[in-house]
Amino acid sequence: MPESGHCKGMIDLHCHYLPAIDDGSQSMAESLDLARASVANGITDAAMTPHIHAGRYENLRSTVVSATHQFRVALADAKIPLQIYPAGEVRLTAEIIDMLEQDELPFLGTLDGYRIVLLEFPYNQIPLGTERLVRWLLDQQIRPLIAHPERNKVVLHNIERIAPFCEMGCLLQVTAGSVVGAFGQAAQDCAKLMFERRWVSVIATDAHNLLHRAPLLAEAKKWLQGQGWDDMADELTQAIPAKILGINAAHG
Ligand SMILES: [Fe+2]
Repeated sequence: MPESGHCKGMIDLHCHYLPAIDDGSQSMAESLDLARASVANGITDAAMTPHIHAGRYENLRSTVVSATHQFRVALADAKIPLQIYPAGEVRLTAEIIDMLEQDELPFLGTLDGYRIVLLEFPYNQIPLGTERLVRWLLDQQIRPLIAHPERNKVVLHNIERIAPFCEMGCLLQVTAGSVVGAFGQAAQDCAKLMFERRWVSVIATDAHNLLHRAPLLAEAKKWLQGQGWDDMADELTQAIPAKILGINAAHG
């Protein structure tokens, strides 16, 4: 359901659709079903962001590029109108430094002269040294887009813990499911506070499967509109993600 007046529908900068390379889709058939669900949800463009986590999910920029190419061919064969782009959800680890050196760190794109990396903190903490690594990335003209801070156990109980990262220049990606309450009241309340403070740059699905982690971007957008935040509803699901990916989502 692409909106009238826009060349593109909504844009998803975080999902796990590439088959059998992380805890998302486990087969090409499932990947195609997820892509169909995305299109039905109003998404026209999606960045493929499998987990990049040394020791757990050994994916790299080059492996994501080739998996994305294969999926693109399958999407065309199945006539599913979803444009896809290779990226990754990079776990905060020291290996990031080696990956960058070896040109194996995947980026979503570029914004205002900075390359944008989707950066995932561990679920239950913000490890010591995180600020130092983030500072180092910023010094390399790399800006972290922090994945679902509203689901981090530390931030969820005290939103101020993410403030220093916003002040340093990190961007925040809130997950669509959190916005509509799929991850519980606390995550939803935390997301709402982040919107009120205008800290959020992107809402994305982080979809993994159709059963428990389906794409809910349209639902999140509607929720924002219901709060009277029509400006953010468009910017966070379309304008800013399009800018980061470098695609045209202009009116017309
Ligand atoms: Fe994810």
